[in-house]
Amino acid sequence: MTSETVKALDGIDLNIEKGERIILLGPSGSGKTTLLNCVAALDNPTDGNYSFEGEDVPRGHAEKMTSFRRENIGYVFQFFNLLQDLTVLENILLIQELSGGRDKERAVELLSLVGLDDEIDRFPAEISGGQQQRVAIARSLAKSPKLLLGDELTGNLDSATSSKVMEVLVKACEAEEITVIMVTHDETLAKYATRVVRLDSGKIISDEKVNN
Ligand SMILES: Nc1ncnc2c1ncn2[C@@H]1O[C@H](COP(=O)(O)OP(=O)(O)OP(=O)(O)O)[C@@H](O)[C@H]1O
Ligand SMILES: [Mg+2]
Repeated sequence: MTSETVKALDGIDLNIEKGERIILLGPSGSGKTTLLNCVAALDNPTDGNYSFEGEDVPRGHAEKMTSFRRENIGYVFQFFNLLQDLTVLENILLIQELSGGRDKERAVELLSLVGLDDEIDRFPAEISGGQQQRVAIARSLAKSPKLLLGDELTGNLDSATSSKVMEVLVKACEAEEITVIMVTHDETLAKYATRVVRLDSGKIISDEKVNN
């Protein structure tokens, strides 16, 4: 059996400023998820440097990587992964409990920020996909991350719902001064970004500011 080395990322050089909203585009297999996972310290690059607010991000040490992630990173996925037996509000309260302390007032405020004032006592199965994704966004904001990462977070939504979710996300991240990196296949989402980075075969092929 021969083993082949796949370079999922190759010579990536990115400097991200606080408050930027970056959309990461690229064909399937170009390395988008791998890059997000490296940024989240879910994965370790084999070489190179990665610093966050001037500090080296821990590498190869599961506990330190987890605490880096807990302190700094929010992650939203294509599938919302809400707990079905808990209400919308309880889904947020649970995350608060796991990451330091329950704060109902703040949980309600976050749900209001994503436009879900009337849904807080419903169960995930009783709200729409777009509403569920907004719960997932509120949940990722509950631990006050500095950086929010999204992997195809609108991938499961129709275009009108995607727009609504993106508008809510932009508003919430501006209000909370959160930097965003979002992977998508949807070029039209560039209008919600301040910067668009394109990957191909593990390399950055373009990196442009967006004039909104
Ligand atoms: N666990 C793994 N083991 C080996 N190779 C992997 C693994 N995960 C990803 N790869 C390879 O790394 C490269 C980048 O994959 P990645 O998942 O980052 O792509 P992507 O841009 O997110 O694609 P998609 O749009 O399909 O989600 C691909 O060549 C892929 O085959
Ligand atoms: Mg991917």
